[in-house]
Amino acid sequence: MMAEFIVKAKDRKYEGLDENEKGWKGPFCFIQGADPQYGMIDDMSGKKPITWQAEIELTRKAIAAINRMKPKPKFFVVCGDLIHAMPDDNQKEEQEADFLKEFAKVDPSIPLVCVCGNHDIGNTPTRKSIQNFRNKFGDDYFGFWAGGVRCLVLNSQLYEDASKVQELKKEQDVWLEAELDAAKSSGCKHLLIFQHIPWFLNKPEEENEYFNIDLDIRMPMLDKFIAAGVNTIFCGHYHRNAGGSYKGMEEVVTSAMGCPLSQSPAGFEMGKQPSGLRVVKVHEKSISHQYYGMDDIPSTVDL
Ligand SMILES: [Fe+2]
Repeated sequence: MMAEFIVKAKDRKYEGLDENEKGWKGPFCFIQGADPQYGMIDDMSGKKPITWQAEIELTRKAIAAINRMKPKPKFFVVCGDLIHAMPDDNQKEEQEADFLKEFAKVDPSIPLVCVCGNHDIGNTPTRKSIQNFRNKFGDDYFGFWAGGVRCLVLNSQLYEDASKVQELKKEQDVWLEAELDAAKSSGCKHLLIFQHIPWFLNKPEEENEYFNIDLDIRMPMLDKFIAAGVNTIFCGHYHRNAGGSYKGMEEVVTSAMGCPLSQSPAGFEMGKQPSGLRVVKVHEKSISHQYYGMDDIPSTVDL
């Protein structure tokens, strides 16, 4: 069955992934993707005009694999950079429309959770750019339940540059504070965070760079997450797989559903890692995960 639209998070909640999903009913899997970023492949290879047929083909492979997966994934979260065009770029609306058209093909019984990235709301987000994201894809931060697990989705751009949206940053801070506090006594089996920009790429104390969040914001936040009992943080943005851990809390950085990247002293180029997805298995006492290229996504997940 094909939906004609996607479900949008609203009022900091996601319809269907609510109180009904609060109880543990046994192990399950979910899918994490990041950076489908419609338009980046042509942009990276210098093609003009930019099209995003390559990304559409990759999306179709991903969604076909997700829709036939057994057991059915509990949800499919896309950790930001849904599309490549920045706000005010004249291809943005067209890319967003194609993203919505393609991602509406996810089996409607597998909730699609959209997270905002820097390309979606801009490197320096504004009220207008965030409102546009909310209108098209839903709230930029919210919480949901999935099979006894509490999940919080964050707008990571507010940690990167909130210079034009100080009020909105404060609102997210207050909300997150309350959510982390509530999670402690919620009885959740795990507490997970989903966001676009990783706090760090490999080591919590690594130096500031383009792909991580500045140390002065990073360390207090990581400590806050530890105090609240966060198990795992899932991110994208890097267009390569990476990650590490801090005081027993894992941070997973997942490569792109669209254009993979590699970096040399000469600059960035298309990476050799395949475009793909991560399959995450959730057990009562543990979480495990593996990244698969689009052609290697398993049809059966062994729980
Ligand atoms: Fe990206």
